[in-house]
Amino acid sequence: MRTGGGVGSSHSPFHPWSRVRFALCCLAGLDIGVPHLQAHSSAAIFLIGESLMSKYVVRCLPPLFFLLLFSGCELLGVSKSDPPKEQGSASNLPPSPPGEEAVKSAGANPKLNQRYFEDPDVEKWKKRFEEESREIWKYRQNIVDAIRLQKGMSVGDIGAGTGFFSVMFSELVGDDGRVYAMDIVPEFVTHLNQLKERYDLKNLQAVLGTRSSVELPHRSLDVAFLCDVYHHLETPAETMSTLHSALKPGGSLIIVDFVREEGKSSSFVLGHVRAGQEVFRREIEDVGFEFVEEIALPLEENYFIRFRRK
Ligand SMILES: C[S@@+](CC[C@H](N)C(=O)[O-])C[C@H]1O[C@@H](n2cnc3c(N)ncnc32)[C@H](O)[C@@H]1O
Repeated sequence: MRTGGGVGSSHSPFHPWSRVRFALCCLAGLDIGVPHLQAHSSAAIFLIGESLMSKYVVRCLPPLFFLLLFSGCELLGVSKSDPPKEQGSASNLPPSPPGEEAVKSAGANPKLNQRYFEDPDVEKWKKRFEEESREIWKYRQNIVDAIRLQKGMSVGDIGAGTGFFSVMFSELVGDDGRVYAMDIVPEFVTHLNQLKERYDLKNLQAVLGTRSSVELPHRSLDVAFLCDVYHHLETPAETMSTLHSALKPGGSLIIVDFVREEGKSSSFVLGHVRAGQEVFRREIEDVGFEFVEEIALPLEENYFIRFRRK
């Protein structure tokens, strides 16, 4: 007579009581709380129990061995179902430094400039840049006066856009001076060349730069001027290094940009401009410029600051 352990006995893995015991083992396995191990630990607990209670110890041991091996592998993290970690993903990069330092490492969102490339309708941009409600345009003469250009100087209008500052500079530096009207958008540069022809500006040279280089000759500038441009730089450290090289030692760098203060600046400025004057000032100092002064102009939304190239 069979006393147990056969296919039909209560210790057989196929007996209905065994299924009940298996369900209980599953619950015990879930308690372990290690996700990868839950299913396998349940089966392992079940098989250990069954083998201890039955004559089929030998039959139960091989599947038990493989289950324990497989579970062990999963615990060590070599499961095939684990997705591979991406290179440089947030999970394996060092944490970003907090606050302004995180902003510092970044340049402008490329979307800021992409719209000029995608919609290079210069007449449309002229209406935006050259209209009275823009204080840069309204107070352009105050801004130009504060630069203190002199005859014979060489000045770079970096990110010249529709070029109204370049035209004003051209007259101030005179025949012996030079104006480099530089931009990264080909249609703006074509327009700058048209201004040169139209107004017979012999001292003006339009230059097409890149997103990371001003493409100007080494030590060719006495003054570099960026109005409403610094916050557009996508790779500020690279661009400013090329500008540093284009300036003569002791040359001036003028930055006019938006005042950005939480709770004070408009939502447009807070969304459009990545950082305020303090951050920009440190970035500029880091590439070899020395802060000289801030000049108070009748501007409310913008500041005017001057640096010296070391
Ligand atoms: C808001 S507009 C200002 C134009 C002009 N300075 C003015 O105040 O009317 C910004 C200009 O910066 C230019 N720009 C963007 N990234 C630049 C870069 N890396 N180097 C030079 N100019 C850049 C754009 O093409 C655009 O003409």
